[in-house]
Amino acid sequence: MALDRFKGAEVPTHVGIIMDGNGRWAKKRGLPRKFGHREGAKTFRKITRHAKKIGIKYLTLYAFSTENWKRPKDEVDAIMELFDKNLDEVRDFIEENIRVRFIGDRTMLSPSLQKKMKSVEEDSRDFDSMTLVLAINYGGQDEITRAVRAIAGKVSEGELEPNEITSDIIQHSLDTGDIPPVDLIIRPSGEQRISNFLIWQSAYAEYIFSDILWPDYRPEDLEDAVYEFMKRNRRFGGV
Ligand code: IPE
Ligand code: IPE
Ligand code: MG
Repeated sequence: MALDRFKGAEVPTHVGIIMDGNGRWAKKRGLPRKFGHREGAKTFRKITRHAKKIGIKYLTLYAFSTENWKRPKDEVDAIMELFDKNLDEVRDFIEENIRVRFIGDRTMLSPSLQKKMKSVEEDSRDFDSMTLVLAINYGGQDEITRAVRAIAGKVSEGELEPNEITSDIIQHSLDTGDIPPVDLIIRPSGEQRISNFLIWQSAYAEYIFSDILWPDYRPEDLEDAVYEFMKRNRRFGGV
């Protein structure tokens, strides 16, 4: 494994991945879509462990969007069931010194799922080799809307003046709060769009698109993406 090339190198601090292509992976094999989600969950565990080995400090994985409720009920149910099962396996990450957090509106998820989410967050709080951020019922527009509501609440309570609202306050009102902006966003599956993922946090992100369907995404593909990122020249508007 060519992990040596990342030793002492400036790997991205925060990587986001849109885990897309599960349905097409299953379709190609004549299987129901839920088999693709099941296979995608295996990739999720492999890639999380590999991200830590590369030295990535924050890994945000897009698992379910605020728009994904539009799918047939049996598919949504299958995905939710898979989350419930996978959260038990996510607990194993704690032993690997990984902190787990969630972003998105969790109030729409089942009470049992919410309970598991809360407990894994609490139990992994002090672990710091990497933070795994799972985006479930997440949408960038929804996140910003909820943040605006919270800020407006403070203004109406007289805790904050409108001209005191800074981009820093907005950032800290988002679900990602103190998590640094995303440096690299990877989208497999051949689609070249952002689909409501981390829209505020990606203001200066680099993008890497690939045709690989998520269940086929390998640790080496993540390495190649990080390596390509390292060759890019980020200017942040400067020269
Ligand atoms: C991503 O795979 C998983 C979720 C959005 C939950 P898809 O289910 O979108 O797979 P494709 O895009 O249909 O292949
Ligand atoms: C984005 O994939 C959401 C997740 C991977 C969770 P979608 O499959 O929902 O995105 P669109 O519909 O192709 O834009
Ligand atoms: Mg898709």
